[in-house]
Amino acid sequence: MAIESDIFKVMHRRRSIRKFSDKEIQKEELERILKAGFRAPFAFQVCSIVYTSDKTKMKEIKGVGIYPTTKVLMIFLIDLKRMEKIMNLRGHEYGFDDSMALWLGVQDVTLVIENVILTADSLGLGSVLLGVIPQRADSVAEVFNLPQRVFPVVGLCLGYPDPSEATEIRPRFPLKHSAFEDSYKDLTEIELGECMKEMDEGYITQGYYIKNKAKIPLPEGHKDEIDYDKYSWSEHISRKMIRRGFGREPLIDVIRRHGFKID
Ligand SMILES: Cc1cc2nc3c(=O)[nH]c(=O)nc-3n(C[C@H](O)[C@H](O)[C@H](O)COP(=O)(O)O)c2cc1C
Repeated sequence: MAIESDIFKVMHRRRSIRKFSDKEIQKEELERILKAGFRAPFAFQVCSIVYTSDKTKMKEIKGVGIYPTTKVLMIFLIDLKRMEKIMNLRGHEYGFDDSMALWLGVQDVTLVIENVILTADSLGLGSVLLGVIPQRADSVAEVFNLPQRVFPVVGLCLGYPDPSEATEIRPRFPLKHSAFEDSYKDLTEIELGECMKEMDEGYITQGYYIKNKAKIPLPEGHKDEIDYDKYSWSEHISRKMIRRGFGREPLIDVIRRHGFKID
């Protein structure tokens, strides 16, 4: 595929890709993507990336459903270790608030990620994020030799899209209910209904949850009254947020284990 340099075209055609073709990603392409990634604005430049095309290594990461045809897996890191070493070289001691450092880290990392995703797309590649990565930080640290004070924020599967996989542009909330001029708008029930309609009808039309059999079971003791033809985005996301930590260890405990001091 030719390079697409129209950024609006790239942003509007991008969608998550979960099945990749056999075509390898060239070293130069990867370098180009990474370089563009790090051109993102930064607060403290506390983003690092570890990446691999080694399938064995990918499989060693426990508890992460890496899409099997992934060509390159990237893990985006908050890297306070490097920053602290630079401070030490300048003769300073770190005395910052770790919760603020993590916040800045998420900001820095997130901007790099979007640059990576859009650059990859402009080169004809596809990608999908892996949100469970921070919960699996222990295993990620083991596989990639992450020291204390380096924490994985998210993973990204990359490759050329498999043309046999039909992918669609997923809906978003109506712009008027997401971007507010001059003052925040607390949406009315009618407006919330418009948000839900846009998302739910979009996902139902695309058959997303039926195809993927992706229904999240309700907690024990709750009867599931919703059939797949009615089950959609707003129900799915709500079910994700019913239980604390989605049934997983509180993230703050994982973060603390990796050397961050959060009271
Ligand atoms: C932080 C983050 C984590 C995500 N984690 C996953 C994931 O673990 N697995 C997955 O298949 N998609 C994941 N996604 C992709 C979303 O499902 C996807 O972006 C969303 O459904 C919108 O679809 P689109 O990217 O095709 O527009 C994640 C997206 C974000 C931003």
